[in-house]
Formats: sequence, C-alpha cells, structure tokens
Amino acid sequence: MAYSKQVVERFESVLNDPEKHAVGRFDPNDPNVATGLTGAPACGDVMKLDIKINPDTDVIEDVKFKTYGCGSAIASSTMFVEMLKGKTLAEAKLIKDKEIAEALELPPIKLHCSVLAEETIQTAIKDWEEKTAHRRHNQYGINE
Ligand code: FES
Repeated sequence: MAYSKQVVERFESVLNDPEKHAVGRFDPNDPNVATGLTGAPACGDVMKLDIKINPDTDVIEDVKFKTYGCGSAIASSTMFVEMLKGKTLAEAKLIKDKEIAEALELPPIKLHCSVLAEETIQTAIKDWEEKTAHRRHNQYGINE
C-alpha cells in the first residue's frame, strides 16, 4: 500500500517541524481548553486533540495535537488542525471523516485513521460542552 503524496508530505513536514504543525498541548488548567482523546481499536493508535475556545463566540482560536500512530493518522491530525482553526463549535461538529480521507486520498485500509480524527474532534467538543454545562451549573444553578 502506497501513501498518497499528501500524506507523505504532511507526515514528513510534521517530523521536520512539529511546532509549525501544532504538535503539543495547552495548559490543561486553562478553563478555555477542551481535550479529546481517542484510541483506534483496530490498530491501537491514539490521538489527542486540545482546542482553545473563545467562550463568548464559541470560536476555536487555537489547536494542538499529539498523535501516536501511522503516517495517515499524523497527516489526518494536521488536516484537522487546518479545518478547526477559526471555526465555531457548530461548524466543527459538521466535519466528517470522509472529508479528511478524501483530502488525503486515503486507501480503504486506512480509512479508520480519518475516523479516529473525526472521533477525536467530537470527543473534544463533548468535553467542552460538559465543562461549560458544569460551569453554568456552578454559576447559576442551571442544569442542562
Ligand atoms: Fe492506526 Fe492509522 S493505522 S490510525
């Protein structure tokens, strides 16, 4: 199985300059940070995504990731960094694994790598929703 040019270029670029590609994490105590952590049962690879959100506008202002996995998983992570920055949470919810797979020309055997990316995005958004619901409950006694 050959990786597409897109996957190879992205993967090598991350290896050469991880910071440029948003590899890393934010301060876990920052109240405006939410995290998604997902593992792929098929291969054991793991993806972690931190999103920094403006709580007034719901816009994702910055993104960091750490991915332990194959070239497609790393390339998918760089793709969601580009897709998420500047989007609202509502827009981010609409990102589908298919978009990532198509952009990277992933072969069928590697589709689960983009599924992992979509699941990680959704998990991070869920983490944010739970955090904000919890905050509202503590501030105003509102249950959602
Ligand atoms: Fe596991 Fe790609 S082979 S995420």
